[in-house]
Amino acid sequence: MRKNLTIVNTSPDPLKPLKNQKALVTGANSGIGEACALALGAAGADVAVNYVSRPEEAERVVQSIKQSGSNAIAIQADVSREDQVQAMFAEMLKQFGTIDILVNNAGLQRDSPFQDMTLEQWNTVIAINLTGQFLCAREAVREFLRRGVVPDVSTAAGKIICMSSVHEVIPWGGHVNYAASKGGVMQLMKSMAQELAPKKIRVNSIAPGAIKTPINRSAWDTPEAEAALLKLIPAGRAGVPLDIARVAVWLASDASDYVTGTTLFVDGGMTLYPGFATGG
Ligand code: BGC
Repeated sequence: MRKNLTIVNTSPDPLKPLKNQKALVTGANSGIGEACALALGAAGADVAVNYVSRPEEAERVVQSIKQSGSNAIAIQADVSREDQVQAMFAEMLKQFGTIDILVNNAGLQRDSPFQDMTLEQWNTVIAINLTGQFLCAREAVREFLRRGVVPDVSTAAGKIICMSSVHEVIPWGGHVNYAASKGGVMQLMKSMAQELAPKKIRVNSIAPGAIKTPINRSAWDTPEAEAALLKLIPAGRAGVPLDIARVAVWLASDASDYVTGTTLFVDGGMTLYPGFATGG
């Protein structure tokens, strides 16, 4: 029996589980993406910080990562544009040599009552939130397959973490484009995970609940709004980006070697039908 046990690579430095790994985080100049980039850097990975606008914010993230002892670069690209995504990967591979971890984080909302939603609002959200994750994942997988497993670096040939949302399962009136995009991310992630597991590529999602970032400021920046929001969160607090970043580091590390095709809900219980705690 014993000889069948596979020895999982354990990093010699438990504080730097991602040492010698190269990560790309899309939409990394604010919010959850920024927190993930900083946490992966602190865990030892060199990080490419993708952004589409506000280069000074990306540069700030790059400098913070460098202060934590890892290398970092900023790369501009609109993740919904195939040419720009391919140029971003070419630049990352030129500077870092390869990629081990992709955090498919870039996303946005264009909210509207259903009857007023424009095709542009629909297309923009699907293009960034869903097609963008496909385009980045495809480029990452091409490099994972080319390079294969490097046992000293990781037990996997590569790891992809898709930033989903509780709205991959919770319907969301007034936001049908966003909810549809995240439902799509769920099946994109699971189908990739199924297809790529034999190649030692792990694909998982994180589904954040209400995390205080610029995307949902109106949901928490007044006492009234926050009180209404907290009714939806059994844990009694809104999340912060670090709540998500910690989980991203774990999913990127060999500690989660047997985890693939899973969505981890990091939502303070938002998906637990809180209305039923006192109703039903
Ligand atoms: C959305 C936020 C929202 C949260 C919980 C997220 O995916 O981007 O605007 O607060 O889901 O509803």
